Amino acid sequence: MQELQSVKQRFGIIGNNEGLNRALDIAVQVAPTDLSVLITGESGTGKEIFPQVIHSFSLRKHGSYIAVNCGAIPEGTIDSELFGHEKGSFTGATESRKGYFEVADGGTVFLDEVAELPLSTQVRLLRVLETGEFMRVGSSKPLKTDVRVIVATNIDIVQAVAESRFREDLFYRLNTVPIKVPALRDRGDDIILLFRKFAVDFAERYRMPAIRPDALARDMLLNYFWPGNVRQLKNITEQISVIEQAREITPGILAGYLPQSNNPRLPVPLKERGEKSFSSEREILYKILFDMKSDMNDLKNLVYEMMGSAGDMSHLTESGNRAAHNLFSDVKMHHDYFPHERQPAVTLRETKDKSMIQDTEEVVEESLSLTEREKELILKALDKNGGKRKLAASELGISERTLYRKIKEYGLE
Ligand SMILES: Nc1ncnc2c1ncn2[C@@H]1O[C@H](COP(=O)(O)OP(=O)(O)OP(=O)(O)O)[C@@H](O)[C@H]1O
Ligand SMILES: [Mg+2]
Repeated sequence: MQELQSVKQRFGIIGNNEGLNRALDIAVQVAPTDLSVLITGESGTGKEIFPQVIHSFSLRKHGSYIAVNCGAIPEGTIDSELFGHEKGSFTGATESRKGYFEVADGGTVFLDEVAELPLSTQVRLLRVLETGEFMRVGSSKPLKTDVRVIVATNIDIVQAVAESRFREDLFYRLNTVPIKVPALRDRGDDIILLFRKFAVDFAERYRMPAIRPDALARDMLLNYFWPGNVRQLKNITEQISVIEQAREITPGILAGYLPQSNNPRLPVPLKERGEKSFSSEREILYKILFDMKSDMNDLKNLVYEMMGSAGDMSHLTESGNRAAHNLFSDVKMHHDYFPHERQPAVTLRETKDKSMIQDTEEVVEESLSLTEREKELILKALDKNGGKRKLAASELGISERTLYRKIKEYGLE
């Protein structure tokens, strides 16, 4: 207990909540081992201090500590950033370069937002975790490194595994020691302690008396849902400190800074999220179907014209004739081309121009592949919106997350 208090003091961690204490305790206990640690918790709960605690209580504390935000590195360069590359391994690789895993030999690498790693990078990561071996991009020579890996994520990684966005084997390998950082809404009085701490910090910074909540405002702080957790609490404390004249904060003042503050402790609308993504998926399917339909019509017209230029339909077999009849019943001037519907047909004539047939087959194949159509739609939407995923997703009627997943899935980076 004594030790935990000194850890908190040293790292500026505020709070006595049991869940927070447990998380810190695990961090301290596991620090001297070389086990991988997976830190989970909602956005803004304070995950980033944990790997620092672990590193500084480990035997590697004099080695390097490298924190990498996997979500901030473009997919195309992440392998090279992490594992290095050889000269000439890709355009622009004018020099060979060490990656973080090579640089941090003997130290700790913290991979933040680890769930954003592309699947191919996840394979490399698993290998280095299991064998200590890795290869630079563009090299086939395995190199050795001795790195302690700590990762964090604010997404539901079990769900990511279920959706095949995160490798199951890697998950189990990383999850040797799980640390769960509790949500702020579950930390009770810590909310008030944190508010007070931030208020004092900002008062010092801006040279003014610290704000303090009155009794009712305190209740409001305690009952708010805090979707953005400690980060949100810190932000609103700063805003109120700077913007408000009053130093005693009432619920009236507070309400202006807490979105939906009159709906305290609402359960997370998980169902709604599921439904939304379902209806978005349905929408994209409809879009694809409509597009396919219009492609089919184009195809029909094309074939129809080709048949027309090749002469009459007498060469069609009976079933061919029936198919043609069904297919072209909605093409205008239908009767011009089917004047002898009951006429017995002969075999399908060889077409002189074989390439024509091939082309047509390709068109049919392409338009009948849902995946291809979807890829094409996504590329079009991205192109149209200058690569901005948010805009592209909203144009496609799907969530940004779904778009992100599909881009990864189809390798459309
Ligand atoms: N217990 C705490 N005491 C003091 N400050 C805290 C505490 N927890 C979090 N903070 C502060 O809250 C802010 C958010 O924390 P942090 O950046 O670690 O969040 P996170 O869990 O990494 O969120 P995300 O998943 O969005 O990256 C930081 O400014 C951090 O210093
Ligand atoms: Mg973070």
